Amino acid sequence: MLNVALPKGRLGEKVYAMFEAAGYPCPSIKENTRKLIFENEEKQVRYFWVKPSDVSIYVERGAADIGVAGKDILLEYEPDVYELLDLNLGKCRMAVAAPKDFYDDGEKTLKVATKFTNIAANYYNSIGRDIDIIKLNGSIEIAPILSLSDVIVDIVETGTTLKENDLEVKTEILPISARLIANKSSFKFKGKLIESVLKSIEKQVKKDD
Ligand code: PRP
Repeated sequence: MLNVALPKGRLGEKVYAMFEAAGYPCPSIKENTRKLIFENEEKQVRYFWVKPSDVSIYVERGAADIGVAGKDILLEYEPDVYELLDLNLGKCRMAVAAPKDFYDDGEKTLKVATKFTNIAANYYNSIGRDIDIIKLNGSIEIAPILSLSDVIVDIVETGTTLKENDLEVKTEILPISARLIANKSSFKFKGKLIESVLKSIEKQVKKDD
């Protein structure tokens, strides 16, 4: 059996559709239940839905052989896994955003609110800017509005959340998309199975291009 961790939610549904089209269907997954684990014995595949930010934990520790995680999560937590393929799904950007009239004159320590403390620290370190990181868990856009921070480092997809909160992108840090990842020892011991999934998924990615 190949254990596959899928990110629960909209992205996960697209990812599952890709696995299905690649020849690894599991029809019971579409039944509207609260079950979290589904398997197709004939295809030797078992899917489970986990929180998107937890996928890499399951894969790193071998509870899942492969999984799909956003590049943001991989950069933030740096899990010890193989990154096999860019699925070209869930595309967005990691960006610095702030109120329209904000200008960083570089004079005092910059207050940065974010869920992605590692990504933010690495970015500001690379440009030699002193920052004070404020770790938040969601609704990051509120921070500069209430003067909790000067700027935010967050994911921007359509840009609607920024716009509706009178913020704008100041700098784009990185493009983000979903990646197929594998546990390192599974890649060795279930190599054939993982290789064949990888090849079929690769074809789907090219087709969708
Ligand atoms: C993400 C991100 C932004 C929003 C960007 O939030 O943190 O708030 O999506 O999308 P947009 O550019 O299309 O508006 P998410 O929905 O994951 O919630 P949270 O960060 O507030 O938990």
